[in-house]
Amino acid sequence: MCGILGIVSSDPKKNVAQELLDGAMFLQHRGQDAAGIVTCGARGRFYQCKGNGMARDVFNQQRMLGLVGNMGIAHLRYPTAGSSAMSEAQPFYVNSPYGISFSHNGNLVNAAELRRYLDEKVHRHINTDSDSELLLNIFAAELEKYDKARVNNADIFRALEGVYRECRGAYACVVMLAGYGIIGFRDPHGIRPLLIGERTHENGKKDYMLASESVVLKAHNFVIFRDILPGEAVIIPKDTMIPEFKQVVPGSSYTPDIFEYVYFARPDSILDDISVYRSRIKMGEKLAKNIERQFLDDNRKKVSDEIDVVIPVPDTSRHSALECANQLNLPYREGFVKNRYVGRTFIMPDQKERTSSVRRKLNAMQSEFYNKSVLLVDDSIVRGTTSKEIVAMAREAGAKKVYFASCSPVIRFNHIYGIDLADTKALVGFNRSVEEISKIIDADKVFYQDLQDLVDCCQSNDDCPDLIPSQNKPPKDSRLYHPGELPKINSFEVGVFTGKYITGHEDNYLQELEKIRASNQRIRETGSIFSDGDFVDVKAESDISIFNSGDYNNNY
Ligand SMILES: *[C@@H]1O[C@H](CO)[C@@H](O)[C@H](O)[C@H]1NC(C)=O
Ligand SMILES: *[C@@H]1O[C@H](CO)[C@@H](O)[C@H](O)[C@H]1NC(C)=O
Repeated sequence: MCGILGIVSSDPKKNVAQELLDGAMFLQHRGQDAAGIVTCGARGRFYQCKGNGMARDVFNQQRMLGLVGNMGIAHLRYPTAGSSAMSEAQPFYVNSPYGISFSHNGNLVNAAELRRYLDEKVHRHINTDSDSELLLNIFAAELEKYDKARVNNADIFRALEGVYRECRGAYACVVMLAGYGIIGFRDPHGIRPLLIGERTHENGKKDYMLASESVVLKAHNFVIFRDILPGEAVIIPKDTMIPEFKQVVPGSSYTPDIFEYVYFARPDSILDDISVYRSRIKMGEKLAKNIERQFLDDNRKKVSDEIDVVIPVPDTSRHSALECANQLNLPYREGFVKNRYVGRTFIMPDQKERTSSVRRKLNAMQSEFYNKSVLLVDDSIVRGTTSKEIVAMAREAGAKKVYFASCSPVIRFNHIYGIDLADTKALVGFNRSVEEISKIIDADKVFYQDLQDLVDCCQSNDDCPDLIPSQNKPPKDSRLYHPGELPKINSFEVGVFTGKYITGHEDNYLQELEKIRASNQRIRETGSIFSDGDFVDVKAESDISIFNSGDYNNNY
């Protein structure tokens, strides 16, 4: 999962790099592995700065000064297919045709087929393991077919038809064509999010921004916004500044990844017209009802006779846990305090006794656990190792009984669209009953959200009309206005719970994914700087553009 951004400013003298950086900060939670910005100056040249690490590490003032131009795109990378070590930071660049810079969020499920196609049919060199590079090259190959000196919108839309035909999987992309403009498009199932926003200046001129989450748009005063629809693309040419939308292929379904709501997106974002915060509140409410039901079924007891307090596992689950406590009429206490300043650290090779990463991050306050029956609420249970450690911490702090509730159903399968959960066999929910899971994490009982309940939580904005973001909906006179009826979300991508993925995948895809995960894991465990492996992880190494270093001193 990654964060992507793009801006085109109507003011030719304006540099958009600062806004891209500010925007990247708002999307940092979507990927802390690498960050990159590419801008395009008046002469059609690209300026780029990218490197490994968080945005604040990669960009400094000096580097930012080099990023000139009134349009640009950005990327925040989360380690997905294509391991963090072996693939470059995005945006990716190809010089032919026209000069293309490319940011991708998602995962392709037919990468092997695309790799063969690019090699054997169109003879394009692929230099990394990243499926984003494949996507970019497919786009470039499609655009090249028309063999024209200059492209227009119609050519770009036609090239995208080819991309949709060849590429299967989850993708939301922001692309910059040198000297031309910015393009945004979203896969035919709408699995990964992408929005476009409009900002109007006092003189009536308008700027446009594309982003993974609405929170960035609002923060930058792009107050009119809407989702790019499944299978839809938009082009914003910098000369006309008139966005053109096209439904390139019919949307196959409207099925966003439900994990955005469970834990990935910021709570203050609205994705596909669904308030993430609201959906999490609902998850707490439904979970509480479920717990009450199970208590009654099990021993005809009331929850409040058995449980003293509800405690969230910070951070994502807080909103749900609070609502769950309200619903159960139980006190809500912050029993775990998070150490905010542990980022990713390296492990010295001679460090035998490693404090578990959970214990480095969380501390249990005895006063809130001692002699109490506690209900811990977390967003999900993945491998079970973290949950087990947390239950142990609660017991060490004196809890009499520890119940554990998950806002999502049992995760039994791989996440194949870019969230690095774990291999299927490493999931604690793989081929295990809830009782077995309770035993493994050493909880007195584990409660899971019901899948239908979870889907309802995300779909039921309707009963809180004040929260429907109607004030942001493009009015009729906005260039973002969508004529005709908007498609409705018919379901969600829930393959991690059911094993049935909306897009399907290549036969050996899961094995490939497992190999990549294993290599990522090795890197994490060995601590990159001590690895004797085949890579060097250069922390926050800048890459200020090779293309035009120093050029910004001339008036671009
Ligand atoms: C634990 O709490 C119960 C009542 O909730 C109380 O009767 C008991 O004395 C407490 N035990 C300790 C060791 O504090
Ligand atoms: C699932 O569990 C059962 C019983 O514990 C076991 O016999 C079976 O082999 C397991 N299946 C897989 C695919 O691991």
